[in-house]
Amino acid sequence: MFSTEDARKLARKKLPRLVFDFVEGAAGKEVTSARNESCFDEILLQPRVMADVSQRSLVTRFLGRDYDLPFGVAPMGMCNLVRPRADKLVAEAARLHNIPICLSSAASSPIEDMRKWAGENAWFQLYVGHSVESSLQMVERAKLAGYETLVLTVDVPQLSRRPRDQRNGFDMPFRIGPKQFFDFATHPVWSLTSLICGVPKPQNFISEDGDDKFVRRASRAGADWQFLDRLRDIWPHHLIVKGVMSADDALRIQRSGADAIYVSNHGGRQLDSAPSAISTVSKIRAAVGQGFPLIFDSGIRGGEDVIKALASGADFTMLGRPILYALGAEARVGLNSLIKLFAEDMSLAMAQLGVANVEDINESVLLERSPTVGEKLNTSLQFASSQA
Ligand SMILES: Cc1cc2nc3c(=O)[nH]c(=O)nc-3n(C[C@H](O)[C@H](O)[C@H](O)COP(=O)(O)O)c2cc1C
Repeated sequence: MFSTEDARKLARKKLPRLVFDFVEGAAGKEVTSARNESCFDEILLQPRVMADVSQRSLVTRFLGRDYDLPFGVAPMGMCNLVRPRADKLVAEAARLHNIPICLSSAASSPIEDMRKWAGENAWFQLYVGHSVESSLQMVERAKLAGYETLVLTVDVPQLSRRPRDQRNGFDMPFRIGPKQFFDFATHPVWSLTSLICGVPKPQNFISEDGDDKFVRRASRAGADWQFLDRLRDIWPHHLIVKGVMSADDALRIQRSGADAIYVSNHGGRQLDSAPSAISTVSKIRAAVGQGFPLIFDSGIRGGEDVIKALASGADFTMLGRPILYALGAEARVGLNSLIKLFAEDMSLAMAQLGVANVEDINESVLLERSPTVGEKLNTSLQFASSQA
């Protein structure tokens, strides 16, 4: 495994189609998901020579803490589907590499367990599901468990239609018909280990009376402006708002007292005509001003992408699908290899850019960005109207 693509290919072989597609799939025709990646390739970096880059450091300060690397693990529900105990493996990797891991509300591991496994590296992500009160209960649990960073996800007012999941009959709880049975039977290693360890299910929506309350397609629109104000009042630690793609929204979130904004289009899993997330960062940076903490995900597939995100205005980044590909490919070994690959690629690229520290990565390392199709269209429309 020498790249995210290697991990993806291996995971594709080893995982049942239903599971691999749950990870890789996206909304609609999956155009935004693809655009997230291709837009990174259009960004060019400016090589520089003869700087003293013999010693390089990737240590990054974010929200008052030093992390060894400028990236962490994005919140992802049901990671244990990819590999039994995946959440625990990620937690161990987070401690080992001193990076944050954000546990999803929809995770198949309890809030309290993740805090024990990952220690202070654990963040918690909140969905406001069909009941605002049960979401607030989760916030209380996170507070009691000792979490100091809460990420409120706001870009899933309603879960989007993901055709791959529909085709495969993916749902929660699992329904096993002939199609799924065949899929599992042709991936016996995954099926046996999952059977032995127990089929994963969302752990954090379970109420005290034992009811499993997770309804995947229920509205999550309870995460509105009033809720944000309420959350700000009751959550005394760091509060990050995730899924922001508009400068106007970013400004309002900044005014409401959030500690950071998380620029993301959910990996293209929500709106298939959204701009690439990376093309939005610089606009949001310009709106919130220098110094306001910005975090970024969606489309990062290698160390150079992390540099591009930081150079575009992010202070920190998160990895999504690459983490699950690596786990699906080679479990703990795959995960650690992938994190090391990202770190090594970043460090090597920094050497080429004449930059020794992460804090010195800024827009000066960007050479140019060839216009995206959307921008080309915009320019030609402007030209056409100026001619008219
Ligand atoms: C399988 C999967 C599950 C996800 N679950 C959640 C979730 O529970 N909460 C959340 O805020 N984001 C969730 N996301 C979105 C990620 O946090 C992140 O924004 C996205 O994966 C970034 O895109 P990329 O993986 O293409 O880089 C999920 C993404 C994937 C792939």
